[in-house]
Amino acid sequence: MKQIQPGIFSQNGMIYTKAGSDRSVYGENFVEKDGQKYRRWNANRSKAGAAVKNGIELNIDTDSEILYLGAASGTTVSHFSDILQEGFVYGVEYSDTVIRDLVEVAEQRENIAPILGDGRKPEEYGDLIDGKVDVVFQDISQRDQPEIFLKNIERFLKEDGVGLLAVKARSISSSKHKEEIFEEVREKIKEKMEIIDETELDPYEKEHLFLKLKKK
Ligand SMILES: C[S@@+](CC[C@H](N)C(=O)[O-])C[C@H]1O[C@@H](n2cnc3c(N)ncnc32)[C@H](O)[C@@H]1O
Repeated sequence: MKQIQPGIFSQNGMIYTKAGSDRSVYGENFVEKDGQKYRRWNANRSKAGAAVKNGIELNIDTDSEILYLGAASGTTVSHFSDILQEGFVYGVEYSDTVIRDLVEVAEQRENIAPILGDGRKPEEYGDLIDGKVDVVFQDISQRDQPEIFLKNIERFLKEDGVGLLAVKARSISSSKHKEEIFEEVREKIKEKMEIIDETELDPYEKEHLFLKLKKK
């Protein structure tokens, strides 16, 4: 098992995090190595996992605080929770059915706060977040996802923090070519932020762009 980023490991072409709980979250396998249990991080099920496989350094440290928009049932949040041995993740999700699974995941761990909220209305959950965070991550598949992202960056990201944005081309337009959509997103985001790295998420996710950003 070779460490490739803080809290992220690789073996035989697959990536892993140290298991923060014995319970499988989405059917992933566990492997044991030198007395340590690791959870396989399936890049086909997680855009952050796909980005890691495609060479993006997430800049998540073991003591980072993360605001995660579009937490869903906690697939990726659970791996962030594994990485964050001394850190914390706030998971915002607006579906009251989906968030039930996230709450179950959070009950097994001590560093996840599930928040039922709409990323478009940061004022509604701002009081639940303790100060500013090191990383804002967003995966919400909405037409206005760049605007939602920037709103949250402005309010919650530390000046030297990192923004991570997964863009699904088909959520933004069903007719335009993906390159045109991605370029429009880059232009919008670049009004406030600088792109420090990017990748598409093939072969794990089709027509997805992943941007790593910092404040200007
Ligand atoms: C593609 S899924 C996220 C998968 C998740 N990031 C993972 O890797 O485990 C998108 C999620 O964003 C949620 N969502 C969509 N719009 C939202 C909004 N405005 N605010 C908060 N959550 C939203 C959806 O309900 C859905 O659960």
